Amino acid sequence: MSIDSLIIASFMLLLGILESIGGLYHDSKRTKDDWWIEVLSFVHSSTVSKPLIVIITALAMGAILPMWQGAYGDTSLWIALPFVLVVDDFIQYWYHRKAHEWAWLWNLHRPHHTGPDMGVMVTFRENIFYVMIIPNIWFLGIVTYLGLVQAVAIALVAKYIVVVSAHSDVRWDKWLYKHKSLDGLAWIIERTISTPSTHFAHHGKSSKDGISNPTGNFSNMFFFWDVMFGTAVITRKYPEEFGIENDPKDHWAAHLYWPIIKSDKANSEIGDGYHKEMTSLKEPVITQVEAGKTYWWCSCGYSKDQPYCNGSHNGTKYKPLKVQFDKSQKISWCTCKMTKTPPYCDGSHKD
Ligand code: FES
Ligand SMILES: [Zn+2]
Repeated sequence: MSIDSLIIASFMLLLGILESIGGLYHDSKRTKDDWWIEVLSFVHSSTVSKPLIVIITALAMGAILPMWQGAYGDTSLWIALPFVLVVDDFIQYWYHRKAHEWAWLWNLHRPHHTGPDMGVMVTFRENIFYVMIIPNIWFLGIVTYLGLVQAVAIALVAKYIVVVSAHSDVRWDKWLYKHKSLDGLAWIIERTISTPSTHFAHHGKSSKDGISNPTGNFSNMFFFWDVMFGTAVITRKYPEEFGIENDPKDHWAAHLYWPIIKSDKANSEIGDGYHKEMTSLKEPVITQVEAGKTYWWCSCGYSKDQPYCNGSHNGTKYKPLKVQFDKSQKISWCTCKMTKTPPYCDGSHKD
């Protein structure tokens, strides 16, 4: 076991013990399938997928560019470490973001989001193929071959300390929000690295709770990617409910090995022959709305409750639009999703 793995494993164990003392596992909503997913994916990614990527990269690089082995070994750590940290995390931000926007990649990332609770083990809760094609791990394999071994080792420890703590139910950031005097510090920290609050929001079931942001807060180590690319939501609160809407509760094997193993649930996104049906219409829907009540307009065109969102937007780049009205009235909702004045129909369906 490398010194890196030892530090990360000890850190996880420490947080796991603190979570346990806090009662997380005593009151856990996890099912047996959830436990299988968490334990098996952790074992698989640390003993098979990630080592395999490093070995394949070294062999491939050795065959293609043998003269480059260790070529950058003399690079100053002051340059190599920030380079590795920033490039790795930038790549992962976009990979993770696309995993929420592209249906096939969402199916691979989905097990990470079906857990009903947070905790250190959620960090590694992934389909095995999702891990095998994570581009930033391949990047780390390549720069290791080029000689940035020390920078990669330090970067991995720093990254996992942040990422594991952001998934942990220990919620270390709570103390930052308690004292007014720490407000400035909290402002800087929550925009720099992922915190439990911002990352829990990414795992929250639905943005309808006013805290969760499952279609944003994609950052791993550095949260400034979300701030820069407009996907950040910072509330300093934690969602009550985690998981995905309309979860059909698939078998652990389908979660871990899709598309080789498919779910036996007909309504599951990872089920055999599943097809997400477009429910957008060519006419507006007119309904009476009440003053002050909140409505969530479906913008993706997959909801079976048109014109309202029913949580079917997973695996698309769309999210529901929150709407409130000052007075009760009749509204002509767009259902073709081509309107330029969402959520209202502007006649675009005629084209
Ligand atoms: S179902 Fe939520 S936006 Fe379409
Ligand atoms: Zn995600």
